[in-house]
Amino acid sequence: MAAAQELCYPRGMTAAFDHDVLILGAGAAGMMCALTAGQRGKRVLLLDHAAKVGEKIRISGGGRCNFTNIHATPQHFLSENPHFCVSALKRYTPQDFCRMVEKHGIAYHEKTLGQLFCDGSSQQIIDMLLAECAAGKVEIRRHAAVASIRKTESGFELETNQGQFTGRALVVATGGKSIPKMGATGFGFEVARQFGLKVTETRAALVPVTFEGAMLDYVQGLAGVAVPVATARMGKTEFREAVLFTHRGMSGPAILQISSYWKEGEAISLDLLPDEDLSALLKAAKQGNPKQEPATVLAQHLPKRLAQRKVADEGMEGARLADLSHAALQKLADRVQRWELYPNGTEGYRTAEVTLGGVDTSGLSSQTMESKQVPGLYFIGEVVDVTGHLGGFNFQWAWASGRASGQSV
Ligand code: FDA
Repeated sequence: MAAAQELCYPRGMTAAFDHDVLILGAGAAGMMCALTAGQRGKRVLLLDHAAKVGEKIRISGGGRCNFTNIHATPQHFLSENPHFCVSALKRYTPQDFCRMVEKHGIAYHEKTLGQLFCDGSSQQIIDMLLAECAAGKVEIRRHAAVASIRKTESGFELETNQGQFTGRALVVATGGKSIPKMGATGFGFEVARQFGLKVTETRAALVPVTFEGAMLDYVQGLAGVAVPVATARMGKTEFREAVLFTHRGMSGPAILQISSYWKEGEAISLDLLPDEDLSALLKAAKQGNPKQEPATVLAQHLPKRLAQRKVADEGMEGARLADLSHAALQKLADRVQRWELYPNGTEGYRTAEVTLGGVDTSGLSSQTMESKQVPGLYFIGEVVDVTGHLGGFNFQWAWASGRASGQSV
């Protein structure tokens, strides 16, 4: 937070406002909270330090915003308390959000796996939220930098570069740390700590993984190769989606998903051919066509560059299936279907879609998102220790937690 003496407009220079609700952060969660409270007749002030509201909505889903997932259940979220998200998600469902989208005449489609995207552009979702905020007479201030937050007897007092504001309730919806170049900071975590709330360990999630040394050389040699269906596994958790080799490591939806579960030093197990039994295929090919090369069999199921590389790894270039033992073919199959990868890290917040961890849910009401210790103080959206899988789940949490708080403030 900037020091009070650095304020552009010192206290008293602009009119002091009195509001029912002060909301910090005009992203997905903050706007949903604002429109809900405003339409209940609450006087709402929505503050954002950025020049534009909803910037992450704008860039999401490749510009088309994957705004929800019709299959959203609590199982699609990570948290130290997996039950925390249940109530809010049950009370504001993907169908509820779709009704708002339809009311505004926004055309959308299911891309894959229940993921709903705008046919047009994500700006339509931002415009919809702004129109709903306007219907609730929400006052929005952009370029608003908060210098300090003080709890008063009856509510909260904010010192900002646009003056002092007071409100009975304060909602923190400032998101996580991902994409710092868009102004993301750990501000919400600082506010939580200021008021004595715990913050769980945070780290970048839904993020490409990186490698070093020989493994980096290896993936760089395959950069650009995509496998449309692979399974990335950590223990009992697995995701079956595309993977992509990059110049730094690996990406693609299956890798982004598993990155939320991966910890330093652990292996990610990759099956590049999850619908087949490669060992059986190779052995059958050996019987049926012994002169065939293993790379030819692999290339029927995998991108050619990857097939050739896997065969070269086993020193089998130019060999015929007839010359290879069953044990050797089994080993080749294992290298494709049980490939143990040891990333050295991730690309971090620079490219991560979300922050894993956040404000400890043990300090919040799962019904309203209000702090149990500090009445009137709420935390919603990504700043809370609730993180969704890839595929529209993070926005659904933002809508649901925003709605729950907006109905309570
Ligand atoms: P969000 O980050 O949206 O909003 C926080 C707001 O607070 C911002 O407007 C910010 O400017 C403001 N703020 C921050 N600090 C402040 C301060 N100190 N003072 C005042 N204001 C402050 N999810 C999904 O479900 N489907 C998708 O398609 C995608 N796609 C996607 C793509 C990319 C590139 C990223 C980075 C992320 C996604 N996500 C996503 C994740 C999704 O964008 C994210 O989970 C939600 O935006 C979180 O909503 P919040 O409102 O909590 O935070």
